[in-house]
Amino acid sequence: MKTASALRELRDLRNTLKGTLGLVPTMGYLHEGHLSLVRRSKAECDHTAASIFVNPTQFGPSEDLSRYPRDMPRDLALLEAEGVDLVWTPTPDVVYPPDFQTWITVEKVSQPLEGAHRQGHFRGVATVVAKLFNAFTPDRAYFGQKDAQQVVVIRQMARDLNFPLEIVVCPTVREDDGLALSSRNAYLKPDERKAATVLYRALICAQEAFEAGERDAGRLRAIMSSTIAAEPLAREDYVSVAGPETLAELDSVERGALFSIAVRIGATRLIDNFLLETSNSKSQTFNGDE
Ligand code: PAF
Repeated sequence: MKTASALRELRDLRNTLKGTLGLVPTMGYLHEGHLSLVRRSKAECDHTAASIFVNPTQFGPSEDLSRYPRDMPRDLALLEAEGVDLVWTPTPDVVYPPDFQTWITVEKVSQPLEGAHRQGHFRGVATVVAKLFNAFTPDRAYFGQKDAQQVVVIRQMARDLNFPLEIVVCPTVREDDGLALSSRNAYLKPDERKAATVLYRALICAQEAFEAGERDAGRLRAIMSSTIAAEPLAREDYVSVAGPETLAELDSVERGALFSIAVRIGATRLIDNFLLETSNSKSQTFNGDE
C-alpha cells in the first residue's frame, strides 16, 4: 500500500494505477462501516484508494473538530490489511492552501435536516469531496447510506459539475443492538451507549407503523419523537419523513420515503435513517456523467 500526503505525490502514485479506481473518502477512525465500503470497492474496481482527512471546513465553530477521534497508525494498518492500493493523508494546508477562496454550495438539498442544524456543513463536505474527486479522478466513489443527506448533496454536486464517476451508496452497518456504526460512538459513556439505541428503536417503531398501514407523515414523525422522548438521556434535534431525493417533508408517505433523525445523547450528536424500501438498507448507484 502506497501513502502520500503531498498532492503532487498522490497524483504521481495515482497515475501508476491502470484500470478502474474506486475511492473511499473518510475522516479516519475507521470502523466496519468504512471497511464495508473498501470491500465493495475492491469487489467492483481494479484498484482501491482511500483518503483520511478530518475536514475542518465541515465542522461548525461549536462542533467537535478538536476532539474528533483520530488514530492514523491503526487506520493505515486496517486499510493495508484490506488490500487498499493508495491512501492520501493530507494536512489541512494541503487541501486548503493560504488564500483558498473557492467553495461549492449545493443549494436546495443542503438546506433542510443536517443543513438546518449545522450551518456551512455541506459547503465544507461538497468542497472537500470535489477536491478529492479532482485529486484521485476515481471511476467510482463509495459512501454510506448512514449519511443519507450527504449522499444526496454529493450526488447533486457530481451531476451539476459533471464529474465522470459513479457514486455508489452502501448499506448502513449496525451493531447487534441496531446502533449504526459511527466514529462518534467512541464518545459515548456506557449508559449513553445503551441509550443510543433509541435512534434505531424510533426508526423501527415508525417503520412498523408504516408497514401496519400508517401513511400520515405527521403521525409517523410523532411516533419517532415519542420514542426519543421516552429515553431520559436523549434529546431530539429533528425527526423527518421526507422525499429521498428532494429531502422535502412529506404529508403522506409512500414506499421509498426517507425517515431520518438526529438525537443528542449527552454531548454526542448522532444521526440515523431508514430508506423505506425493502428494509433499512439500500444500495444505489448514480453516474455523475449522465
Ligand atoms: O462522511 C465523511 O466521513 C465525510 O463527510 C467525508 C465524505 C469524508 C468528507 O469529509
